Amino acid sequence: MHVVVSAGGTQEPIDPVRIITNRSSGKQGYAIAEAARDRGARVTLVTAPTALTDPDLIEVVKVGSARDMLASIESTLRAGADALVMAAAVADWEPASAARQKVKKVDGQDRTTLELTKTPDILATVRELPGVKVGFAAETEDLLGNAKEKLSRKGLDLIVANDVSATDAGFNVDNNRVVILDRDGAQDELPLMSKRDVADRILDRVRRIVDARH
Ligand code: C5P
Repeated sequence: MHVVVSAGGTQEPIDPVRIITNRSSGKQGYAIAEAARDRGARVTLVTAPTALTDPDLIEVVKVGSARDMLASIESTLRAGADALVMAAAVADWEPASAARQKVKKVDGQDRTTLELTKTPDILATVRELPGVKVGFAAETEDLLGNAKEKLSRKGLDLIVANDVSATDAGFNVDNNRVVILDRDGAQDELPLMSKRDVADRILDRVRRIVDARH
């Protein structure tokens, strides 16, 4: 099996020294990549910058922005992959145009605006390419409602919903509490567990879908 995993929070450049990003640590995505490797899969980890060390025996592709991530994932899927697990926190917006030079302060100016445009939706863009597609829904309200809507809008096989308002799970910690939803409407509500154990539960489900298609 060839599994493609994305991780980290994308960085959208404002100018040569400034970015828009988010609080994703990359831990859940790296845990999925490592779990897939340990099951014998070939793994491509497409990662936005994180503080984590590169895992052994995994092809690591380092990207910055949502657009870079899309280009890398699209070409990897076109070359043939069995599954894509999008654990990355992809920015929804990017600066309409990144300044070529560092933006300067202006004396007397105490307010400014930054025009943003929508980033491409990576999952929606690759939905017709082969492979099982798994998305994440990090939500602070109406977790299951939002997750179901994303599952169908993005044409996913599975979505992993997590409540990022909890302090013991989700962003930047080693544990996660998730619900895995599938196309048939089944909801697998998992207790608090390590991100590695969450990774294994997701990969169990991916394996079942891949096997059913062969
Ligand atoms: O729409 P939302 O960002 O909440 O959806 C989350 C899921 O979609 C995650 O799996 C994320 O990696 C993916 N995503 C994407 N392209 C975007 C934004 C999010 O593939 N531009």
